Amino acid sequence: METTTALSFKQQIKQGIPNELPSVKEYETTINHAPKRKEILSDEEKKLALQNALRYFKPEQHEILAKEFLTELNDYGRIYMYRFRPDYEMKARPIKEYPGKCKQAKAIMLMIQNNLDYAVAQHPHELITYGGNGGVFSNWAQYLLTMKYLSEMTDKQTLVMYSGHPMGLFPSHKDAPRVVVTNGMMIPNYSQPDDWEKFNALGVTQYGQMTAGSYMYIGPQGIVHGTTITVLNGFRKIGKEPKGNLFVTSGLGGMSGAQPKAGNIAGCVTVCAEVNPKITQVRLDQGWIDEKITDLDELVARVNQAKENKETVSLAYLGNIVDVWEKFDQENVHIDLGSDQTSLHNPWAGGYYPADISFEDANEMMANEPELFKEKVQETLRRHAKAINQHTAKGTYFFDYGNAFLLEASRAGADVMSDNPTIGREFKYPSYVQDIMGPMCFDYGFGPFRWVCASGKPEDLAKTDAIACKVLEKLKKESPEEIQQQMTDNIQWIKGAQENKLVVGSQARILYADAEGRMKIAKAFNKAIKKGKIGTVVLGRDHHDVSGTDSPYRETSNIYDGSRFTADMAIHNVIGDSFRGATWVSIHNGGGVGWGEVINGGFGMVLDGSKDAGRRLESMLFWDVNNGIARRNWARNEGAIFAIERAMKSEPSLKVTVPNLVDDKLLADI
Ligand SMILES: NC(=O)c1ccc[n+]([C@@H]2O[C@H](COP(=O)([O-])OP(=O)(O)OC[C@H]3O[C@@H](n4cnc5c(N)ncnc54)[C@H](O)[C@@H]3O)[C@@H](O)[C@H]2O)c1
Repeated sequence: METTTALSFKQQIKQGIPNELPSVKEYETTINHAPKRKEILSDEEKKLALQNALRYFKPEQHEILAKEFLTELNDYGRIYMYRFRPDYEMKARPIKEYPGKCKQAKAIMLMIQNNLDYAVAQHPHELITYGGNGGVFSNWAQYLLTMKYLSEMTDKQTLVMYSGHPMGLFPSHKDAPRVVVTNGMMIPNYSQPDDWEKFNALGVTQYGQMTAGSYMYIGPQGIVHGTTITVLNGFRKIGKEPKGNLFVTSGLGGMSGAQPKAGNIAGCVTVCAEVNPKITQVRLDQGWIDEKITDLDELVARVNQAKENKETVSLAYLGNIVDVWEKFDQENVHIDLGSDQTSLHNPWAGGYYPADISFEDANEMMANEPELFKEKVQETLRRHAKAINQHTAKGTYFFDYGNAFLLEASRAGADVMSDNPTIGREFKYPSYVQDIMGPMCFDYGFGPFRWVCASGKPEDLAKTDAIACKVLEKLKKESPEEIQQQMTDNIQWIKGAQENKLVVGSQARILYADAEGRMKIAKAFNKAIKKGKIGTVVLGRDHHDVSGTDSPYRETSNIYDGSRFTADMAIHNVIGDSFRGATWVSIHNGGGVGWGEVINGGFGMVLDGSKDAGRRLESMLFWDVNNGIARRNWARNEGAIFAIERAMKSEPSLKVTVPNLVDDKLLADI
């Protein structure tokens, strides 16, 4: 059913916060809800939270709403304003179905609704898209008001978003962004995890993750593609073909569940351990794993057979990952590539399960004997690291997957520290960005470019796939040796993209491209729109990219000049994108690695086939990639020095400071 009220979808959007109170909504138990947040506000602060929430509503409604919002605050730790959740279906509609005067604003409404689609969002009623806390808005009043503003906006106004709250429409000009988003931007000393709890509960800030609060999430496709690129390049790093070789890892959860699917796309034998039977079954039913095995001897036999027959197969082991590493060591099963994606950013509350205890018993221990649980986790981490060390001594290549495995293992006293530590190389093993994504992709400008066909038509997506493929094939012929492999991988991906059936929600596609690739693909789309071959296209990218994110333990972990604890790059990026023609820009505190640990930003850009769009895309995409390459070059990263020199040749008005390298011998005795 489209709507249960008398108003049409367009009328409901234009109405914003309804004049009359809508009826109370039942708490739907079939929906995946956000966990109850911790009780953090004092009684006085609760009053402030209520005042803050009530300012969206007329005074005559305050008496009823104050009681209701207080109940929400006490029951869930937040005021979501459930009563105001709209009755229409939450999904990205074809762009023509949105009300308003401005095509760019309509495209943004489409993207907002996609982030809240039940098929896409993790906790749709709490306006959370992913990561447990990645909010598009903090409450339903903010959603309603934002959509109303967008439906009223002209091409000469900009909507200002303060962490989910629409501050209002301000006069600007046609080349300015239509929306400027900030999420969780704090005074640096107020960026501890409890600060998020408190100020989010007060309703004055929110955690936007990366693509949640910036309206650019496209479901699991992004993570599958990124993981495929990592697995493929991991094998290259060790000079081996995926065929017939073994990748061992763990976790079949939100992001980690993409590993076996990516292993299959890459073509290796994957073993992925998971302790949770329900999650394992979900991935099996979904077809993201091929076989489930519960016995270690059986697993060893099946892996040996798969290696011998050079099968492309993904095997889930239902049990603890530590048992797999130890058993494979005893049985001499050689692991070529190893990693781990348990949720060690959250080790004491279900992110990492101890060995030798059943899943159910572990959950009980976690709740009833938290200190003992902690001891067991740390004991398991020491065993885990020891078993990995045994394998790496026999030639396994192990990398940390940005899940804080090495950090937590080191805190548990495991043997994971480097014998010769330097800044950024404190551990025995590298992270996936340090060894793989950074030097092989980001330093050359390759990153997660994406687009959405705003017509909502699968045919349009197929046409854009074909256009992108043609552009990349042409570019590959002229590309230098250094980036040939990246081009080949992405051509292969786009050719198989339809077959992989990863589209959920909007008609979206991701691929890794460098500045030249992104610009040429975008230009070709704009031309096709002008000729009427396809409808409007929204361009964007994940924040996990070359220039958008400063994150010392992830995106910028392969910066070794000491500047990885600075955030100048991300800030420059969003400022530069905004005056070069982005349709909307965003800058966030937090995302992936945590509140206070990262500053990340992104953009959206609407292509409508116009000359203006053509001008903007060239100017903005060139900057959006080359800003990060320039910074990576200044940090003395080899690939980036190559890439920025190439960019300067292609665009004579680009003049970047290139570092002079010092002979190590000169400094050896200092
Ligand atoms: N995929 C990526 O590109 C990427 C990038 C950066 C960081 N990460 C990190 O990877 C981690 C995983 O993310 P997620 O969204 O999948 O989290 P998740 O919590 O949904 O999944 C982790 C899974 O690991 C399982 N698990 C825990 N301990 C285990 C054990 N000892 N043996 C076997 N299974 C065990 C859990 O049951 C859970 O299903 C996070 O810390 C995330 O930040 C992933």
